[in-house]
Amino acid sequence: MKFMDLYKGYDKRKVAIQSRIESIIERSQFIFGPDLEELEETLAKYVGRKYALGVSSGHDGLSLALMALGFEAGIDHSDKEVIVPALTFFSTAEAPASLGMKVVVCDIDPDTYNMDLNKLESLINKNTVAIIPVNLFGQCIDYDALDTIAKKHNVFVIEDACQSFGATSKNKKSCAFGDIAITSFFPAKPLGCFGDGGMCFTDDDELYARLKKLRHHGDSGGMVHVMLGTTGRLDNLQAGILLEKFKGFDEDMDLRRSVAEFYTKNLNGILKTPKIESFNDSVYAQYVVISESKDRNAIREYLQTKDIPTALYYPNPIHLAPILKPLGYKVGDMPNAEYVCKNSLALPIYNEMSNDEGLVVINALKEILSN
Ligand SMILES: Cc1ncc(COP(=O)(O)O)c(C=O)c1O
Repeated sequence: MKFMDLYKGYDKRKVAIQSRIESIIERSQFIFGPDLEELEETLAKYVGRKYALGVSSGHDGLSLALMALGFEAGIDHSDKEVIVPALTFFSTAEAPASLGMKVVVCDIDPDTYNMDLNKLESLINKNTVAIIPVNLFGQCIDYDALDTIAKKHNVFVIEDACQSFGATSKNKKSCAFGDIAITSFFPAKPLGCFGDGGMCFTDDDELYARLKKLRHHGDSGGMVHVMLGTTGRLDNLQAGILLEKFKGFDEDMDLRRSVAEFYTKNLNGILKTPKIESFNDSVYAQYVVISESKDRNAIREYLQTKDIPTALYYPNPIHLAPILKPLGYKVGDMPNAEYVCKNSLALPIYNEMSNDEGLVVINALKEILSN
């Protein structure tokens, strides 16, 4: 069994994708072009935003967002603080840290695994400039509650939606929240391309104008460089592939949710299954479970003997990353994130996964957990 079978997703729309790729190659317009523009318009409309801007990756989108908000490269930002959750992919912390900003880590909610909003406010001080909430494993954080805190303290919100494109929260789509939202089109993401890619979303005219320049070397047009930017564009081939994949995206997410629901129905009571808030609809970028009785590594090893791969999201929490040691965090500072890192495992999931494959995983888990 594969942890994620990306080929199956390609195979069902092979002809359309191949003909799109062929037509782009024939036009030979690889950087900036109609496919990118069409994708930006389509996805902005889908998530309900004024603007969308294709970028080279989710990570680059996070960096560009911070730069657009005024924290560009080449300026000392060491007194500026950015709050990130303790459980996320390293990029969420790496982007502000790389721009010389101070990363402040917030522990997670023990049930949703998203940033704990009860702990957030005590971390805000006069140096705090931004919060980067992450919609972990495909489920949005409560943006009403988060925005109330952010507005009270006048700090920016950057929605890290790298795992949640397609999710909804209180009838709004993920990527509709925050001053700027970022998603990733890394191949394994809910909407994945065939390489690296991402997108920034905003409703703000000025932020959009700044993002646009920053993703192309601060060029204000005609090679007049007014900002320090980067090579941050989404290329036209990836945009074309994404347009084809997007045509069946909602159906794909329905399939994915039904795989997750099948797991939940059969594993509830045996393992701690994902808790989805009543106001949320997750896209299950990962399906993560925790056993309260059996050692996580023993479960993984047993599943591996049955040819069932699992993965860890994440083996280590953000505050214990070796490169962030100068921040002074230690083991025990973020107990909820540390617990998840030590005890959770992610089960195979992909849109086309059949109930028969799901049952193989479920039965293997039942076997090991009854021993
Ligand atoms: C929460 C989160 N933020 C940022 C990123 C970075 O995205 P990319 O791999 O497209 O740079 C990822 C990718 O795994 C992610 O999961």
